[in-house]
Amino acid sequence: MFPIEQIVRLKYKYIAKPLLFRRDPEEVHDRATRVGVVLGKSRVVQSIFRSCFGRKDASLFQTVCGIDFKSPIGLAAGFDKNAELLNILPALGFGYAEVGSVTGESCLGNAKPRLWRIPEEKSLRVYYGLKNDGAEAISARLKGKTFAFPVGVSIAKTNSPATVETEQGIADYMKVAEAFRDIGDYITINTSCPNAFGGEPFSDPVRLEKLLKAYHALHITKPTFLKLAADLTHEHLDQIVELSKTYSIDGFICTNLKKEAGEKGGLSGKSVASLSDDMIAYIYKKVGKKKVIIGCGGIFSGEDAYRKIRKGATLVQLITGMIYEGPQLISEINRDLVKVLKKDGFSHISEAIGKDVL
Ligand SMILES: Cc1cc2nc3c(=O)[nH]c(=O)nc-3n(C[C@H](O)[C@H](O)[C@H](O)COP(=O)(O)O)c2cc1C
Repeated sequence: MFPIEQIVRLKYKYIAKPLLFRRDPEEVHDRATRVGVVLGKSRVVQSIFRSCFGRKDASLFQTVCGIDFKSPIGLAAGFDKNAELLNILPALGFGYAEVGSVTGESCLGNAKPRLWRIPEEKSLRVYYGLKNDGAEAISARLKGKTFAFPVGVSIAKTNSPATVETEQGIADYMKVAEAFRDIGDYITINTSCPNAFGGEPFSDPVRLEKLLKAYHALHITKPTFLKLAADLTHEHLDQIVELSKTYSIDGFICTNLKKEAGEKGGLSGKSVASLSDDMIAYIYKKVGKKKVIIGCGGIFSGEDAYRKIRKGATLVQLITGMIYEGPQLISEINRDLVKVLKKDGFSHISEAIGKDVL
């Protein structure tokens, strides 16, 4: 282990985390964002962080759908809701980040409290309800800026009674898609937020097809992924894969939060890890490398990321692991992936993708 990562890991575990975990999770999230914004303004801080955590290895470089990724580890949607952390995240070792989810209108989200820790399950219960500044403000924040890594934009419909009807819901998605037509490197259509008004209407294949048809008609040329709910049946996944072929969707993010009957919100972290792993393997068996699979759910180590890659993920992304393990985790995963690829006789990550499935 590199000494700096070990020092940060120990300091996080024994000093920062016990203090942070005593406070309200949303307050900590907001403060971490404010600190990240300030740190990201300083080129000196960026360069110190980059030298500590930003090392990259050629064995992890990939060009996916025409986009260059220096690391397969991304920040999942929901942490940088308003696209404020894009200067500091690459310096932590992230290979990309997905901002949002961004909705047509700005949205305060659900009533508080709406974020809880479940340490015994290494999970979070999330009931934010798509809090974000909205398509207009967030696209204006990003317009004309360039970043040190690819930026994805997760799009969703506004959490409001006004978007519950299918047509209005689709119009809201299209408003976001239009706003980001020329901003950001890829789009993720999030149809699987368990926390919004009216549930997840676009999980239904008939409505999903209407949504994808409308999106396709916009002729947006950037890569587009679908973020999938964690609890989809194989039959449902088969239908979604077929739709993805018809409407030129480039791939899937597996998965969003895990829903629980009778509970508010959805679970992240270890609670959703095996659902995510199983879905990656199932879809990879069906589509191989014809579609890109992005693994998401319960990545706390290089081993977790590598398992998803061997099941078929080309890229992975996380939030909860970083909250439980500390900000050095991304650098540790990058380093451990390089080691394990070498140990297994692979000279490049692409050789390991799907190895446990086909
Ligand atoms: C605090 C929080 C907020 C989230 N908000 C969103 C969101 O706005 N859009 C989305 O697609 N997923 C959202 N998610 C789900 C994550 O992107 C991810 O799918 C899930 O947490 C599993 O990854 P993890 O175990 O690494 O956290 C959120 C997750 C967390 C923890």
